[in-house]
Amino acid sequence: MLAIVAAMHEELSALLATMPDEERVRVAGRDFWVGHLHGQPVVCVLSRIGKVAAATTAAILLERFDIEALVFTGVAGGLGDHVQVGDVVVATRLLQHDLDASPIFPKYEVPLTGHARFAADTALSDGLAQVARECLADPVALVGAAASRRFGIHEPRVHRGLLISGDRFVSTELESRMLRDALPDALAVEMEGAAVAQVCHDFKVPFAAVRTISDRADDSAHADFMSFVAGVASRYSLAIVGGWLALGRHGLEHRSSKI
Ligand code: ADE
Repeated sequence: MLAIVAAMHEELSALLATMPDEERVRVAGRDFWVGHLHGQPVVCVLSRIGKVAAATTAAILLERFDIEALVFTGVAGGLGDHVQVGDVVVATRLLQHDLDASPIFPKYEVPLTGHARFAADTALSDGLAQVARECLADPVALVGAAASRRFGIHEPRVHRGLLISGDRFVSTELESRMLRDALPDALAVEMEGAAVAQVCHDFKVPFAAVRTISDRADDSAHADFMSFVAGVASRYSLAIVGGWLALGRHGLEHRSSKI
């Protein structure tokens, strides 16, 4: 089955509401909702916020359930120059920006793995990016006229590239600039994705992350994040992840169940 994970309720609530037959399995204080979405067997779970919470959730998922692929969805702060509120980032690689065991290991490298940037699965990511492009073609249909006006979502775009994660909500222009200077190819920042990518790498399970930009990780990030998450984040997850699930077999059928 497929695992669908988000950090917060607001990021997954609309999709969860469309599960007709969910059964709750409670482990370590998390509710794992097992059932079907668009006829696909799935387990949906809220990881909670931050790298440890997300890694714990991912490890439970991969150990307790028969997961063939894991998709993380939710919001992120835009870092790249052209990455605006209402855009979508589909990760190609993920890195923990607050991991630094130098000089013993290179900065950002997860010690003893030889990796700093963990790759997302290409077939999963291609499918999600394609559906995201279709959803963003009509932002008014996606979020409604009022929200599209309020958040300035007029010609939203899909970006693909580096997503960075750390245990910090980035909410000052200064910190955003420091991250952009240190990692110029980073498109967006959030607090879970790279940790889950690392767990999926360990378990050899394909992983993808699709994030809607809620704020610009700057001095107004806090207010922008709160209203975006409350107002529109779950509509994006519903449209993109739901639309992708409705397509069927996700490009996983041409290979053995685990990479
Ligand atoms: N998720 C959404 N916006 C974020 C930000 N500015 N920093 C970290 N995680 C985020």
